[in-house]
Amino acid sequence: MTAPDPQIGGAHSEAVPLYGRRFAGNTEELFREMRRDHGPVVPVLLEGGDPAWLVIGYREAHRVLTDGQLFARDPYRCHGPDYVPPPAVGYTPGMLMFLDGDAHAHRVGAASAALAEVDQFQLRADCERFADRLIDAFTAAGEAELMEQYAYRMPVLVMGGMFGMPDSELMSVAQDMKTMSDGREDAIDAYGRFVATMRGLIESKREWPGPDVTSRMLAYGTGVTDDELIHDILVVISGSQENTANWIGNALRLMLTDDRFAATLSGGRHSVGQALNEVLWEDTPVKAVPGRWATRDTQLGGRTVRAGDVIVVGLAGANADPQVRPAVHGDSGGNHAHLAFGTGDHGCPHPAPELAEVMAQTAIEVLLDRLPDVRLAVPEDELEWRPAFHLRGLSALPVRFTPAFGIESG
Ligand code: HEM
Repeated sequence: MTAPDPQIGGAHSEAVPLYGRRFAGNTEELFREMRRDHGPVVPVLLEGGDPAWLVIGYREAHRVLTDGQLFARDPYRCHGPDYVPPPAVGYTPGMLMFLDGDAHAHRVGAASAALAEVDQFQLRADCERFADRLIDAFTAAGEAELMEQYAYRMPVLVMGGMFGMPDSELMSVAQDMKTMSDGREDAIDAYGRFVATMRGLIESKREWPGPDVTSRMLAYGTGVTDDELIHDILVVISGSQENTANWIGNALRLMLTDDRFAATLSGGRHSVGQALNEVLWEDTPVKAVPGRWATRDTQLGGRTVRAGDVIVVGLAGANADPQVRPAVHGDSGGNHAHLAFGTGDHGCPHPAPELAEVMAQTAIEVLLDRLPDVRLAVPEDELEWRPAFHLRGLSALPVRFTPAFGIESG
């Protein structure tokens, strides 16, 4: 725990701990309770005991995300060099999301421009190919755990291909990314292997550039060092993997448990998009983004926030704000005003949300085509959410279906 902040202390005598099993349960009820007891800006304690503000009002969250002058991502814009950011915010020096100003704009601009040249038709074809390959591996078994065997692997295989990695390396990179995101004991080894693979990739793309995202990031990111580029690639691939996997998993859960989607499961297709959008409101994959720092004293949602205070933007809480939330459950169909992708300078960069949508939509459509009678293998209330305050994703999604031969083997 970093030194307690005397200014933040007053309100924090009633602080809500932002960790523990509660975050794996019914978050709708949790946010309702927080809003009732504290209003749109909630005093919280991060894991480790550090005080922070959790913003769950839509208007307030929007203000924090869009006012980069007042709410910095780089903590050293308002703290001295001896400051140690709370471990729970995952501050990493030099990492894209903790940069501000020109350095950030240049690096995220290079990634964004490189992603913008991805051919959407090719992307869809790649998604279908990888989805089929993953389904082939379990289709004869008649059962699968879709988070591990499908949702997590699909985005990293597709992104790896987009970055110009050889097909033979993709499965092991997918495995390493999963190990890192689980924070398992062998995560450091997995990180080491990832860095070595990326170093090799960058060297080969520098020598033989191709029509891939790595070659374009090298071309557009003038002055960016190889270490910085590796970090940026890691942020792009890991951001796509964890978030897109949970988007796929949460939408599949909705479709497998909610009667409104029963027709889709037996042949129709139109409501895959509807399920994906509904999830961005109700079970958004990024529940909260930790780590903004107030650069000066200000008022936010009726609270006095002091210079240097840590702010966590609660995207799920903001989406659930009764002032903006579509009034009736399931009526979010055409409404895209959610904050699922953040907004402002640090929001999910264009065109990442569109690419993620192609991946998620194709993953679900191919799965439903290949396994038309797919159903949950456990009662709905036995599905467990991961107990993290910052993400919403299932620990596992076990399903059953009629066994079949794979496309390649059958
Ligand atoms: C192709 C897939 C994706 C890619 C390549 C991607 C990439 C990124 C990158 C590079 C950032 C950092 C931007 C910065 O700090 O300047 C980011 C931020 C973000 N992404 Fe994505 N992302 C993807 C999918 C998703 C999905 C599916 C979601 C959620 C539904 C999501 C939600 C977010 C959010 C909320 C942020 C902002 C975090 C903040 O405000 O600090 N992303 N994404």
